[in-house]
Amino acid sequence: MDSSMSSAATPPAIALIGASGFVGLRTVELLSARTDCSLVPVVRSAASLAVVSRQRLAWRIADFLSAELLAGALRDCSVCIHAAIGDAGQIVRMAEVAYRACAAAGVRRLVWLSSASVHGQDCAPGTEESSPLHDHHPIVYNNAKVRAERRLARLARDRRVEVVILRPGVVFGPRSRWLADTAADLRAGRAAWLDEGRGVCNSIYVDNLVEAIRLAATVAAAAGETFLVGDAESVTWADFLQPIAGHLGFAASAFHNLPPPRVVPERESRWDAFTLTPAYARLSNFVPSRAKRLAKALAAAWPAQRTRSAWALRPGPAAPRLTAELALLQLCRWKLTNTKAERLLGYRPPVAFAEGLRRSLAWLDFAGLGRPSP
Ligand SMILES: NC(=O)c1ccc[n+]([C@@H]2O[C@H](COP(=O)([O-])OP(=O)(O)OC[C@H]3O[C@@H](n4cnc5c(N)ncnc54)[C@H](OP(=O)(O)O)[C@@H]3O)[C@@H](O)[C@H]2O)c1
Repeated sequence: MDSSMSSAATPPAIALIGASGFVGLRTVELLSARTDCSLVPVVRSAASLAVVSRQRLAWRIADFLSAELLAGALRDCSVCIHAAIGDAGQIVRMAEVAYRACAAAGVRRLVWLSSASVHGQDCAPGTEESSPLHDHHPIVYNNAKVRAERRLARLARDRRVEVVILRPGVVFGPRSRWLADTAADLRAGRAAWLDEGRGVCNSIYVDNLVEAIRLAATVAAAAGETFLVGDAESVTWADFLQPIAGHLGFAASAFHNLPPPRVVPERESRWDAFTLTPAYARLSNFVPSRAKRLAKALAAAWPAQRTRSAWALRPGPAAPRLTAELALLQLCRWKLTNTKAERLLGYRPPVAFAEGLRRSLAWLDFAGLGRPSP
């Protein structure tokens, strides 16, 4: 299904898969305002158009897990940006489907949004793009992102599509879960940090990520390369979290200071494993995507099947809370650099961290989440 404007798209047309997400929506807002490209938002359902369709854009709807259907949505596009996500199995499958769809549609370049977490949230000092990856992290998401990158590297050997991989760290900004969740935790009296927030937060304000995406889509020298991208500043978790607390009228003491956690590896679900098999790929062609989503929602809501967070203290409403992901992130002591992105892409983060935070806090107010606690 297309909007009636699709024929009005002028080259170079850039398709954006996952245009309804946090990163996707901001990418739509910033890139659709430019005159040097024509943005084609691609979403998975009509319901996902709620915000995107407020602008007159050549949007398209497609199944991100079907190469054939996705290829149809990518026609006439020279570049494809992939900013969609799914569960662990879907992340890996989406990478393959996106590559095959780009190849079939004649898309020249695929920009794949990976994550700095392929190096682990608590990455080793000295980590850079060429550091070896492994897929036995305690967080299932990290392993899926590693496998997706590997899948793309394997597929790209046929040289039908140039793949550019971006590895952002903690992406924050208006609509970000990092802000909304912190505000909710502070209000509930369960906000926590490790070592009083001294760990390194490898932040990237969402507009800076969109700038990196734009460069990855357009700079010739980016072909076949992988880039870590972040804010220019070295930021600690206290630098990030304390202003949110202050904005809501809380002192830094509102964060419970927790000892380093014992992280229990998340278990990859049997379902995730099954979704990676060829049998699932064949079967899924016959099941409508709405039925698949309904089945998944039911499975997720079923108490016996719910996957517990690897590390969370939650005996009572006011118990301090840190997910495994956040705990590992706050253990980080290494600021990932933009050196390669600066050199090859000419990446210069356009928004300073302080300004990004100011805009983010303004959004908390706009969304009704920023009023001082009663
Ligand atoms: N946010 C961060 O801090 C961060 C950090 C590093 C890397 N990244 C990467 O950046 C990309 C975008 O992240 P985000 O924060 O913008 O994610 P998001 O807000 O969760 O949005 C993801 C997009 O994926 C779609 N989607 C979700 N589940 C899906 C499924 N099962 N099948 C098909 N589509 C599905 C959503 O569509 P609906 O709107 O229809 O649900 C939405 O358009 C991801 O690859 C993520 O791994 C994000």
